[in-house]
Amino acid sequence: MTMPNQKHSSRQLQYLEAMGINLWVSRDFQETDIVADVIESKIDIEPELLLEEPESSVDLPQIMTEQSTDQPKNTLDQLRQEVSVCQKCQLHSERTQTVFGVGNSQSNILFIGEAPGHDEDKQGEPFVGRAGQLLNSMLFAIGLRREQIFIANILKCRPPNNRNPLVGEIEQCIPYLKQQIELVNPKVIVVVGRVAAHALLNTELPMAKLRGQQHYLPETQLPIIVTYHPAYLLRSPLAKQKSWEDLLMLYELDKNLFQSK
Ligand code: URA
Repeated sequence: MTMPNQKHSSRQLQYLEAMGINLWVSRDFQETDIVADVIESKIDIEPELLLEEPESSVDLPQIMTEQSTDQPKNTLDQLRQEVSVCQKCQLHSERTQTVFGVGNSQSNILFIGEAPGHDEDKQGEPFVGRAGQLLNSMLFAIGLRREQIFIANILKCRPPNNRNPLVGEIEQCIPYLKQQIELVNPKVIVVVGRVAAHALLNTELPMAKLRGQQHYLPETQLPIIVTYHPAYLLRSPLAKQKSWEDLLMLYELDKNLFQSK
C-alpha cells in the first residue's frame, strides 16, 4: 500500500527501516517529501499510525514525561524497595542490582520481557542494551515512546551468562510481576519472547502458535499480545514484519490505549 504525502523525518525513516518496512524515496527527494511504501507488509496502515517526530504535537498521544505522583506510584515504589533486597533465589548473589521496571505507571500498556541482561544489570533498567534499542524502534514505529508504557521482566535479576531462567527462579519472582500488573493495572500486556510468554501464560506452545492472536492473563480478562523478543529480531530480521503485525493488534484492541489513564 502506498501512502501518498506521508511525511517522515529521517529519524522515523530509520525506525521504519529497522522494522522492515520498505521505503521508496521519490526522485526529487527532500527530507519532508518521502513516499513510504509498505507493499510487503500487506497491512492497511492508517495514516495516523505513522506519526511525526515526538516533538510534533500533531496527532501524538498525550505523553506523560514524568511519573504520576498519586497512589499507584507510591505503592510501586514500595514494591520496588522490597524487590531491591530480595534473596529468594540464588540470582541475588551475582547481581549488580535488581531491575524492577521502568516507565509510566499510569500506562494502559505493559510490556514484559524475560530477564535483565548485562547492560540492564549494570544500569538497573530493563531493555537498555541492543535489544532495548530495537524495542524503542518498534515502539516508535507504532507511535509510542518508551516513556509512555511500563516495561518489566519476568525475572528481576540477571541469570549468569544470560542463560534461560530456571523454573524455580520464575516461581520465586513471578509474584512480583503479578503485583506490578495489579498496580499498573494496564488494559493490555505485550509479552516479548517465548520464555516470558510461557511463564505468563502457563503454556509450552511454540511462538508460531502464540503470536498473531489474543490471549488472556490466566484467571483474568486482561488481554495479552505475544510477539517476538527484540533479541530474536536482531538475529532474525525477517521476523520483524510479523512483529510489526503483532504490534498493530494493539490498535485493533482499542485506539485509546495509547492515552494514559
Ligand atoms: N531482554 C529482556 O528480556 N529483558 C531485558 O530487560 C533485556 C533484555
